[in-house]
Amino acid sequence: MIIKRLIGISLAIFASMAISQETPEWQIADPAELAVMCGVCHGPTMNGSIRRDGPALVGLSAEYIARQLRGFADESRGYDDRDVLGKFMERMNGMLRNEETIVAVSEYIANTYAPNPEEYDARPRTWLWQSEYGSFDLSGGDAESGQVLYATTCFACHGADGEGLDAMYTDTLNHFSAEYLARQLQYYRSGVRGAHPGDTYGALMAPMAANLSDQDIADLVTYITGEL
Ligand code: HEC
Ligand code: HEC
Repeated sequence: MIIKRLIGISLAIFASMAISQETPEWQIADPAELAVMCGVCHGPTMNGSIRRDGPALVGLSAEYIARQLRGFADESRGYDDRDVLGKFMERMNGMLRNEETIVAVSEYIANTYAPNPEEYDARPRTWLWQSEYGSFDLSGGDAESGQVLYATTCFACHGADGEGLDAMYTDTLNHFSAEYLARQLQYYRSGVRGAHPGDTYGALMAPMAANLSDQDIADLVTYITGEL
């Protein structure tokens, strides 16, 4: 028993040496420096940027951010050629060079920035990015119909206030712009996001968007951005 345990301990020591040798400290990018890069597209306070289409990252947990970064890195998100904006994130893969850096920058963002409603509420509800998804009209969105749909279809996984539920692997929907939300729902509906076999969590979401009409999306987005 003792010998077995000793072998176990020395294996554990070797394993931890191997891990620390794999990624020396100097190869882990400084998260504060990286965040400046992220801020170019996500806004300097991570409340989102209209000009660069980067969604707000405030309010998201480190776990959720890291999961998306891994998804962009292994292309289980951003795999579709129609996902032009997802490809923006692919370009970050070189800087997000290893798992330790992904975790460090995700924790840094989650712990450093706070939601600022003045920044995200001020956004126009128009599309700045012209594409197949660029002509989506949200002006006819009806918050009441959106509320009914949210309560029957989304609530169970995203929480009553859109706050996200750990048990369902969701995170807050509360700080996103209308255009980001509408875009993601269209992406899920058409297989641009959530259809990759490696996207375990997107697989939970994609079927929920499959049958949404354009009107449903406008209603949901009007409700979520207006009332949650
Ligand atoms: C060149 C612009 C650009 C840069 C730089 C950039 N992003 Fe992004 N990022 C985007 C865009 C655009 C999207 C939205 C993609 C979409 O619509 O699906 C996005 C999406 C994301 C998402 C997914 C958000 C969600 O709610 O699912 C995360 C997380 C993220 N970026 C983190 C980062 C981090 C961390 C950095 C810095 C290391 C960074 N981004 C740098 C443009 C950028
Ligand atoms: C079965 C659970 C489930 C239901 C029901 C569900 N979702 Fe989701 N949703 C998820 C999960 C899990 C994710 C995160 C996927 C990931 O990590 O990539 C998600 C992601 C999203 C995103 C993208 C968030 C982001 O930060 O990019 C939006 C927007 C969204 N859901 C809206 C909705 C709406 C609106 C409804 C109702 C029509 C709905 N969801 C119903 C599980 C669900």
